[in-house]
Amino acid sequence: MPEGTTLFERACRGERGERAPVWIMRQAGRYLPEYRKLRESVDFLTATKTPEVAARITLQPMERFPLDAAILFSDIMTPLEGMGVGLDFDPGPVLERPIRSAAEARSLRPLDPEEGTPFVLETLRQVRAELGPDRALIGFAGAPFTLFCYLVQGGGSKDFMEARSFLRLEAEAATELLELLGDSMVRYLVAQARAGADALMLFDSWVGLLGPDTYRRFALPLMRRVVGEIRAQADRPIIYFANGGATLLPDVKEVGADVVGIDWTLPLSRAVEQLGTGAVVQGNLDPAALFAPRPELDDAVRSVLRQGALAAAHVFNLGHGIHRTTDPDQVAFLVDRVHQHSARGTPA
Ligand code: CP3
Repeated sequence: MPEGTTLFERACRGERGERAPVWIMRQAGRYLPEYRKLRESVDFLTATKTPEVAARITLQPMERFPLDAAILFSDIMTPLEGMGVGLDFDPGPVLERPIRSAAEARSLRPLDPEEGTPFVLETLRQVRAELGPDRALIGFAGAPFTLFCYLVQGGGSKDFMEARSFLRLEAEAATELLELLGDSMVRYLVAQARAGADALMLFDSWVGLLGPDTYRRFALPLMRRVVGEIRAQADRPIIYFANGGATLLPDVKEVGADVVGIDWTLPLSRAVEQLGTGAVVQGNLDPAALFAPRPELDDAVRSVLRQGALAAAHVFNLGHGIHRTTDPDQVAFLVDRVHQHSARGTPA
C-alpha cells in the first residue's frame, strides 16, 4: 500500500473508510501477560532505551489484536533526560530534582533528538520495518503544559499545585520553560516522523487543570505554534489529546490539530457540537466499561460509534489509558465489536 493510505491515516485526514479504525491508549503494558513476563527481566527505563525490547513491546498488542495502529513504547518523560533532567519510574515518573526556581528552569537545554533520544528513533525504524503496510505507527510526545507539570511538581500529583503556583509566581521563567519544552517537542516529533512514525500524537494529560482563561494564557498560543511548526516540517496527521478538557474545547479547536482526542467524561456527540461536524475525533469509551458484562460493553461500544458517526471521521479508542487489571479477552471482544458495528452498511 502506498504511504499514508492506512485506514487509520485516512480517518485522521477526515475520510470515512470501510469501518472505524481502532487502537487503545496504553495498549502495550501491564494488562498483557507477555508484557509482564518481559518486564521480569528488564526495568521500565531500560526497556524504553533498548530498541529491540521497546520494538517487541510495541508489537505485542499488534500480534494479539487486529488493531489499526501501533504506538511507540516509550513515555512522555523520556525525552526530558536528553534535556538534562534526571529521571526514574516508580511506577510513575519521579524526578531527581524538581524545577523550583527561574535559574533551574533556565538550566535545561533544548533537545537534540539524534543525540538525546537515538533509541526512540531506532525503535521506530525497527517497528516500521516489521509492521505490515496496512497498519500505522504513532509517534508521540507530551504537550508542553503536561511536561511542565511533572517537571515542576517532581512527580505525579492530584492537583499539581507546585506547578500551577510556579506559573503565577514565576510567570516569565515558566513561560520560557514552556517555550523550551514546546521547541524541543517540535524537534522530537519531526525526528520521529523522519524515523518512520505515520502520525504524531501530543498527550496533554493534565490540561484539564486549567480553566479557559489560563489555557488561553499559558497553553493555546504555544500549542498553535507547536502544531504549526510540526506540520511545516512533517506531513503527518497530528492528534491532540486534551484530557479533562471538556470546558476547553472551543480553545482546543483553535490549536488546529487534525484529530482531537476526547476523554470519556464528555459524550462524543457534545464534543462534535463544539468542534463542528468537520472535526475528526478520537475516543472515548470509559476504560471501566471493559469491566462490564459483555452485552453492556457491546452497548457502550455502539453508543460511542453512533456519536462518532456525527464527526467527519472517528478513530475508536478508550477515553484514557487501559487499566492494568483489564482482562485481555475483553479487549479482543471490544476490538471485534468495533469492527462489526462500524462496518459500512451496518446499522449502529
Ligand atoms: O500507549 C502506549 O501503549 C505507549 C506507551 C506509553 C507509556 N506512557 C508507557 C508506560 C505512553 C503513550 C505513555 C504516555 C504517558 N506517560 C502519559 C500520557 C498519557 C496519559 O496516561 O495521560 C503520562 C501522563 C505518562 C506518565 C507516566 N508514566 C505515569 C503516570 C506512569 C505510571 C502509570 C501507571 O499505570 O502506573 C508511567 C509509567 C508507564 N508508562 C508505564 C507504561 C507501560 C508503566 C510502567 C511499568 O511499570 O511497566
